[in-house]
Amino acid sequence: MIKDIKKVSLSEERIEQIVKRLGEQITKDYKDKEPIFIGLLKGCNPFMMDLLKHIDLYCSLDYMDVSSYVGTSSSGNVTIHHDVKTEIVGKDIILVDDILDTGRTLDAVVKLLRARGAGSVKLCVLLDKPEGRKVPITADYIGDLVPNEFVVGYGLDYNEKYRNLPYIGVLKEEVYSK
Ligand code: IMP
Ligand code: MG
Repeated sequence: MIKDIKKVSLSEERIEQIVKRLGEQITKDYKDKEPIFIGLLKGCNPFMMDLLKHIDLYCSLDYMDVSSYVGTSSSGNVTIHHDVKTEIVGKDIILVDDILDTGRTLDAVVKLLRARGAGSVKLCVLLDKPEGRKVPITADYIGDLVPNEFVVGYGLDYNEKYRNLPYIGVLKEEVYSK
């Protein structure tokens, strides 16, 4: 698997620094609150777990698995494969995902959670790819910016593979032509 990586974009050490910084910032911002962290499956996995180790708050966790589609509904255009089980009305939600690209998925989920009565919804993403954006959305907590190239590892997949890579990297061209 490692032989397929052309370039390391974010090393394990860099990811550790980022995750610590984000965790400490969220801990500060949510002082005396009890947020619910909602991770978007499956890409949120390693990021969510590492981030939570740096959160010094009473909090709960939940997960959603969604796919977005293009449409016009104000409550978001999203198919829900797995939904949250936690009561979210009036609660402070922090949505956690691996990467913000077109923005369609997170935009749809934010609208959905607001429509369901969440008290507040903030976004925390490990990576932001601003050049990919198709809908106007910005994250509140961003680990790092990446250029418009496809990255894998640390939760991010290519055809469901490479999520278990401990760092983030770019695949060799030959992998795509296999
Ligand atoms: P979007 O912002 O609605 O386009 O959705 C972002 C989702 O697309 C992420 O959660 C990833 O699953 C996937 N994605 C976007 N860019 C990449 C990438 O560079 N590598 C792997 N997955 C990506
Ligand atoms: Mg994803």
